Amino acid sequence: MIRIGILISGSGSNLQSIINAVRMGTIAGEIVKVISNDEKAYGLTRAAEAGISTEVVKHGDYAGRAAFEEKLLSVLQEAAVELVVLAGFMRVLGAGFLAAFPDRVINIHPALLPSFPGTHGQAQAFTYGVKLAGCTVHFVDEQVDHGPIIMQAAVPVLADDDADRLAARILRCEHKIFPLALALYCAGRLRIEKRKVSILGVDETLLEDQCLISCPV
Ligand code: GRF
Repeated sequence: MIRIGILISGSGSNLQSIINAVRMGTIAGEIVKVISNDEKAYGLTRAAEAGISTEVVKHGDYAGRAAFEEKLLSVLQEAAVELVVLAGFMRVLGAGFLAAFPDRVINIHPALLPSFPGTHGQAQAFTYGVKLAGCTVHFVDEQVDHGPIIMQAAVPVLADDDADRLAARILRCEHKIFPLALALYCAGRLRIEKRKVSILGVDETLLEDQCLISCPV
């Protein structure tokens, strides 16, 4: 069982999808700590309801990023966390933090990276006029929304979409691929080589001729 620590800032719907997958036994891991940098985050309630230990570490309470990250690290290390999951955590983590968890920090981003990194990826994609939007689960490196990609899901943009409707459909896909990617990690099925993540034991024969077309004319 991999000991998982989850960092959140908000509603925690991704956290909930991970809690559910752990409960179902699809992720061979245990969520041992949920940390929020915002004491009002609804994700804290979700965690408490699931009986998971929570902690609030407010970035504003610390002199700078280094001190904030040191506190995060001490909470995670005290809980003997092995894998750090960023589930809607709205702070950027620096080199010092990442060095403590090499290749062991995973994030979800609501766009098909490398397009539309940063905040409001869904609205950026919508405004740009893409036909396929989506989401990405990736290992975290020192650049924002940049590390090796584990899994992506594409979401067609519909004619009557607005940015919020599109974001809601992307979020539903996030809830599918985030637990899947974490299940693969916990099963020891991910290998990183430079930027490439391979997934061990996948039968890709069905994928060879597959494509998702945005407009089924
Ligand atoms: C998600 O869209 C995630 O991709 C982004 O922040 C949002 C968090 O939503 N990083 P929730 O807190 O998991 O509901």
